[in-house]
Amino acid sequence: MLAAFVTRTDADDPLSALQVAERPAPDVPEGWARVRLKAASLNHHDLWSLRGVGLPDERLPMILGCDGAGLDDDGNEVIVHAVISDPDWKGDETLDPRRSLLSELHQGALADEVIVPKSNLVPKPAGLSWEEAACLPTAWLTAYRMLFTQGQVLPGQTILVQGAGGGVATALIALGRAAGVRVWATSRDEGKRTRAVQLGADRAFESGARLPERVDAVMETVGAATWSHSVKSLKSGGAIVICGATSGAAPKNAELNRIFFLQLRVLGSTMGTREELGRLANFLLTSGVRPRIDTVLPLERAREGFEKLASGDVVGKVVFTR
Ligand SMILES: NC(=O)c1ccc[n+]([C@@H]2O[C@H](COP(=O)([O-])OP(=O)(O)OC[C@H]3O[C@@H](n4cnc5c(N)ncnc54)[C@H](OP(=O)(O)O)[C@@H]3O)[C@@H](O)[C@H]2O)c1
Repeated sequence: MLAAFVTRTDADDPLSALQVAERPAPDVPEGWARVRLKAASLNHHDLWSLRGVGLPDERLPMILGCDGAGLDDDGNEVIVHAVISDPDWKGDETLDPRRSLLSELHQGALADEVIVPKSNLVPKPAGLSWEEAACLPTAWLTAYRMLFTQGQVLPGQTILVQGAGGGVATALIALGRAAGVRVWATSRDEGKRTRAVQLGADRAFESGARLPERVDAVMETVGAATWSHSVKSLKSGGAIVICGATSGAAPKNAELNRIFFLQLRVLGSTMGTREELGRLANFLLTSGVRPRIDTVLPLERAREGFEKLASGDVVGKVVFTR
């Protein structure tokens, strides 16, 4: 079968490690299911994998891709949930210390076929296209959990989304808006600020700008570069929900005094559960919100999609179809 995979990683020149070629089709172990993929989407995670981050040599060759949607062997239309927990784990799989993301331990979704535990299949609503469904399992699910599970954000509240250009950030803006939340966003780039407003942000500000008033919650993916501003932007008792630290994990000023004095809450968030993925798919149906897709290419042209993501010249997701 055709697949985009890696047999050696390259920290300096990740795209040189990408191969798009034939791989053996997988056998299906007891309790697992095969999905014939119709669409799969790219994440920064795939670029990190090419660099060897989270993907040691002993796990290679590895097919890349966390996100996909397709048909199972019974012909059901399914979305593939990317968080694979230990078979003995019970409860919220994002809390399983032995969980992995598809393409970290198990072969990924940038291929004709992928196998996952049967419990990782989520029905795809007919109202979502294959391409839209394939965007949900990582960036959009992460945004959903940040807002509604960890952040407990309510309609009518105001949130700040830092770094409006990112995949998670754009999902946060669209989902927050659809849920009746007033969304403010920051970006270093004027074009991205304009697009944030087009996506549903009420207002967009330069990174670090003083806001008209303090917000109920901040959604953090940028990390060190925006942390101090995030803490200073919160009302007393407000929450920072953080799922990533693109600019670094050690802010110059952690603002600890402000955190305890204003009784702020710092909430970590990672991916989401199978149930949350199902609710996210339903929420898109009922709200009409759809993931913004930048580029659709056949899997044969995966290299072009990786190059686009690596260049930073994307607004929304890069999707490969079969
Ligand atoms: N925990 C999880 O489950 C999970 C899931 C998905 C992603 N993540 C993490 O979440 C983060 C966001 O990922 P992503 O793919 O959505 O977006 P991304 O491409 O990593 O970028 C996010 C945004 O960060 C801002 N940024 C980057 N460097 C900056 C700097 N030095 N100063 C200020 N802003 C800076 C940029 O905003 P502007 O250019 O607009 O200013 C950019 O659009 C990543 O760290 C990723 O690993 C975590």
